[in-house]
This record gives sequence, structure tokens and C-alpha cells, in this order.
Amino acid sequence: MQTKEELNEGLIAFLKASPTAFHAVAEMKKFLSSRGFRELAEGENWEVQPGGRYYVTRNGSSLIAFTIGPKHPCRNFQIAAAHTDSPAFKLKERAELSTAGKYTRLNTEGYGGMICSSWLDRPLSIAGRVMTREADGSIRSRLLKIDRDLLLIPNVAIHMNRKVNEGVELNKQVDMLPLLGGSTQEGALVRLIAEELSVRPEDILGSDLFLYNRETPAIWGIGGEYLSAPHLDDLQCAYAILAAIAEGERADGVNVAAFFDNEEVGSGTKQGADSTLLPDVLRRISFALGLSESEYLRALASGYMISADNAHAVHPNHPEHTDANNCTYINEGVVVKSHAGQKYTSDGASIAILRELAHRAEVPLQYFANRSDKAGGSTLGNIAAAHVSIPCVDVGLPQLAMHSSYETAGTGDTLHLVRLLREFYATLIQTAGDGCFTLKK
Ligand code: CO
Repeated sequence: MQTKEELNEGLIAFLKASPTAFHAVAEMKKFLSSRGFRELAEGENWEVQPGGRYYVTRNGSSLIAFTIGPKHPCRNFQIAAAHTDSPAFKLKERAELSTAGKYTRLNTEGYGGMICSSWLDRPLSIAGRVMTREADGSIRSRLLKIDRDLLLIPNVAIHMNRKVNEGVELNKQVDMLPLLGGSTQEGALVRLIAEELSVRPEDILGSDLFLYNRETPAIWGIGGEYLSAPHLDDLQCAYAILAAIAEGERADGVNVAAFFDNEEVGSGTKQGADSTLLPDVLRRISFALGLSESEYLRALASGYMISADNAHAVHPNHPEHTDANNCTYINEGVVVKSHAGQKYTSDGASIAILRELAHRAEVPLQYFANRSDKAGGSTLGNIAAAHVSIPCVDVGLPQLAMHSSYETAGTGDTLHLVRLLREFYATLIQTAGDGCFTLKK
């Protein structure tokens, strides 16, 4: 069992190595492989054994890991889910733009809903995946992370905009384009990428490239209570799930950790939570284990899902933005989110199960609901649950400045979620009639 310090160290290394969803999945693969998980491919036949640990990826940006209990037959699926993507700026296919022959900027568009101002006046660079033509004629995907200060989006001086401190509208087509350098010859960016990857520029056939913030994670505060970093939403929860599934063991049933790309743009892609990925994987596990369709549906009916996506803590300068008492604080435990309109999946039954798990694991819980006069954000729980319709609860870890390029969370909370998920993965949750449950270790 890892200590708080070891977990934070691991989380920081994971955050540093994961400027995009593609990198996050590559890091997860390394983490899982070193802990006995074997890779399966969607395009190949699956041979899985009771007692085995496996993972499968889709698009290189979503990943599902699972462990199969040694006892046969499979009793149920217990799933924890998070997302791998974060709001950022994506390079357009034709990215170079010249200003009066004196500056070269890059043409980008917004991916997800970011706080634009948090991207200004700080070193940025480029990361993502690049598709290249290989010597044998095949096409392959390569990860790219240009590991140096390369770009910056400069603010307009206060002398040119005296109202800058009264609120400024930032237009993504105009204000948010990063500066690459002075005058360049056309194709400078592709040549730079080719050089980074040691390939020829003409062999670059496609790419998904994003700006990333170069600022490294920091632990700060008088008691070292805060952790700031890019991508805490949702890589903090993703890391906690990863750590827990690698540790947790259950005699019967399948533990699942699902990490989806594209949550920030509505999940509606082939690898998002609104795709067939999760049901496809659960079905294939069942059939590889020799379950019939009816046994698969029975295992599913006895399942339970925890959707983990970061939550809003009370803002120190603006407590008025959160509800009177359904509000949360950093380092005070795992947040359970509820929404009457069901944007969050939590209900009385699913919260009861979670509360019992938290009680057994001695993990503090906090409760979040939006102010009733404000629309909150959305997440992936209700989207995934539409495809795999089982009891589900929405949780998260409390944080500040969600969707800033540099977010802030607590150094004590990752351990809270890991302990809760470890208990979850070690406990067999079974339905005992509609709406009734048993929890057995
Ligand atoms: Co999120």
C-alpha cells in the first residue's frame, strides 16, 4: 500500500509525462505492463484466464484495464471510469500564419472549454500524435512531445487596452494564436516535427497536435497542502483508479478501469464514453470466459460503476459560487456529486453503496450539488451508463480553477480516492433483488 508521499510522487511523474490523452494512455500502458497486465488488441482473438490482468486501447487515447477474479464463473463487473483528455488548443491542419512577414504564428482552435487567460504569457510547446509513412509502406503512430519552451501567446499591453482589468473578451480566432518565431520559410513547423521524430517531412501523413503548458507541477502552501499542475481534471482521478486496480483483488467477478478520451468535447467519438468501447470490452471478456448471453446480462445486472471526475472546491475569494452546504473543500475527502436533472448518475441507492464502502475503508466523503440557479458542468458517468446501464455514482476530487491550464487540488485527496477504490475493487457488490444489495469481501 502506497503512502501519501509515494502517491503524489507517482501522480506528479504521470502528469509531467502526459501533456495529451495519447501520452496519458502510453504512460498507463507502461504502468500496467510493469504490474503484470497483458495487452489485448481489439482486432485480435482474446484468450483470457481467471486470475489474469489485461488492458486494451482504442485510438491510442482511451484505455480499458481489467482483472479477472480467480473464481469461475464471473459474478459481476465493477467499473471505475475517468477521462484522459483536458481542454487545450489544437493545431489546425494548415498551422502556419505570417504577420507582415515579421512573425510566424500557429493557427489553432479550442478543444473543450478552457479558461483562455490561463494560456497567456507563459512558455508553451506542442505535443500529440503524428502518423508517419514507414520504409515498408505501412503507416504508424508516433508520440510527439517537443520538450522545450517553443511558443507563447502574448497579452496586449495595458497601455493598448486600459480596460484590461475590467474583464476582457478573448476571441479564439484572434487573441489565442501562439507566436512561434520571426519570419520563417513555409513548412518550418513540419520540418521541426520531422526533425524531432527523425523522419522526412514528406512522410508525415497526419497528426493530432495540441499546445501544452510548460509549467511543471508544484506542491505548495504553508503545510504543503496544495498541488498545482496542468490536467488535474481528470488525470488525478485516472491515476487513483490506476493505482487501485493494480492493487485490488477480488475472488469472483471482473474489476474494470475505463479511461475515455474526448469527455471535454461531449464524448461522442469512437473512443469516447458515448461509444461502444465499454460494452464491447465487457461482452468480449464474457464470451472469452465462456459465458452465455444470459450469463453476461446477469453479470451486468449485478454490476456497479463509479465515475470519477474532478469536482469544484469552494473558491477562497468567491464562496458565493457554490451551494450553501452541498459544497466541498480541498483535502477533506472524496466528493459525491448529485444533480436532480441526472447530469450526475448518483441516486439514493448508488450513494448508499458508496457510503458503505467509504465507511468500511474509513475514507471521508463530501457532498456536492450545483447552486440551483446555476448550470454545472457535465461528465462521463451518465453517458457511459447509457450504454452499460448499471447502478452508478458520480464522484471526484475537490479542486480549484477547473479548466485553467494550471489547476489546483489537494495533496491529501488522491490517497482518499485510492483507499475508497481499493475497498471497492476488493468487495463483491451483488444485487439481492431490485434495489437491494449485499457487499461481501
Ligand atoms: Co473532467
